[in-house]
Amino acid sequence: MFQLAPNHQDDIVRTAKIRFTFDGESFLAHEGETLAAALMRAKLLHIRDAPGDESPRGVFCCMGLCQECVVQVDGKTIESCRLSVSPDLHVTSLRRQLDT
Ligand code: FES
Repeated sequence: MFQLAPNHQDDIVRTAKIRFTFDGESFLAHEGETLAAALMRAKLLHIRDAPGDESPRGVFCCMGLCQECVVQVDGKTIESCRLSVSPDLHVTSLRRQLDT
């Protein structure tokens, strides 16, 4: 016989919600959350296109190694899994054709 682990979902203390934009669209994140986590929670998985065949790419390793989640902030390329969301953060994807 097995026993389900207790659900501690209600015990999680969340930080304040803040807004950021991704390709001009507004999203909510919790202060201090990584951009990759906020985008995944918003079900936005297509972050960039592969340089060769332009296939969709997104978060993979979540620790800054694979470069699959890179975005542009203030003209600089940075891994979204290593970037904490801050108020007034404006992010641009590296997608060639934006999903509509
Ligand atoms: S998911 Fe691999 S570098 Fe961000």
